[in-house]
Amino acid sequence: MRRILVTGAGGQIGSWLVPRLRELYGDDRVLATDIRTPDPVVAEGGPFQVLDATDRKGVGQAVMRHDADTVYHLAAILSAVGERDPRLAWHVNMSSLEAVLEVAREQGCAVFTPSSIGVFGPESPKDPTPQDTVNRPRTIYGVTKVAGELLCDYYHARYGVDTRGVRYPGLISHGAPPGGGTTDWAVEIFYAAAREGRYTSFLSADAQLDMMYMPDAVRAAIEVMEADADALTHRNAFNVTAMQLSPESLATEIRRHLPDFVIDYDVDPVRQGIAESWPDRIDDSAAREEWGWQPEYDAAAMTAEMLEVLGRG
Ligand code: NAD
Ligand code: SER
Repeated sequence: MRRILVTGAGGQIGSWLVPRLRELYGDDRVLATDIRTPDPVVAEGGPFQVLDATDRKGVGQAVMRHDADTVYHLAAILSAVGERDPRLAWHVNMSSLEAVLEVAREQGCAVFTPSSIGVFGPESPKDPTPQDTVNRPRTIYGVTKVAGELLCDYYHARYGVDTRGVRYPGLISHGAPPGGGTTDWAVEIFYAAAREGRYTSFLSADAQLDMMYMPDAVRAAIEVMEADADALTHRNAFNVTAMQLSPESLATEIRRHLPDFVIDYDVDPVRQGIAESWPDRIDDSAAREEWGWQPEYDAAAMTAEMLEVLGRG
């Protein structure tokens, strides 16, 4: 039975992943950490500690005191915030990963690190984007994600650290808001639809990206960590997806529930440029073949559940 430390536990993913890990492994076995105090579901549902994940000594002490054998490393700066402050994105994303991997090497931990569709760039084939293809992203976020995948591969090959990860698409959830990414529109649109019946999108009508509903994303993280190691070839960089959405196609889906919903557009050139450099549809057959990845939610099921939870189902 694992003993787990989660970094960046108060964010969009952590606020769903931590309760699920506590359900599976026991409340006391999952230490949630973040640089800030998160919502009570994370901070009070089991042990919580304020921890800067770039502080290698602090990470090492926390892993030792908790006797952790597994780290889910979620602390990061996302794509849109990264473009506003590239040095911060490089510092947080790379220093925290290096700290976690070094501690894992010293103390024998397994490590889950989420990568992203942000590893792809304008030269990557767009539809479908293969598992193994050209990775030359134009964002600092993507640069840190490519470097992160390679660093995780290196720690596995050189030191035998059990590193694993997936390339998440945009994630859709209720609860903790997204942390400043290019795909945040796919969350904002539901809150705006439920509250005001209209949404102004910062991406253009036809900007299609891969997406996934958070229960599937949480399951992917846990399943890849529990997968038979001998069956894994890609380890730190599995493409995973569940659906492809553009603002217009999601608006159409929302109108099946709220027929008067209105969408208009005020395109942000920075985030539009990032979206245009990312895939239209990634090929996740390696994840399906190597560890049985299978999404449960399509656009219709996700939309119905989001609107129901937000009181408009
Ligand atoms: P988020 O921004 O919602 O949460 C990140 C958390 O990290 C925040 O709670 C923040 O307080 C914390 N944090 C920031 N700096 C820290 C530091 N120095 N030390 C400790 N904690 C720190 O992000 P998220 O959406 O939960 O993403 C988690 C991971 O998943 C990231 O690696 C991200 O790149 C990846 N990912 C997310 C998505 C998505 O759509 N949400 C998609 C692809 C990949
Ligand atoms: N949702 C993330 C972002 O837009 C993708 O990694 O930054």
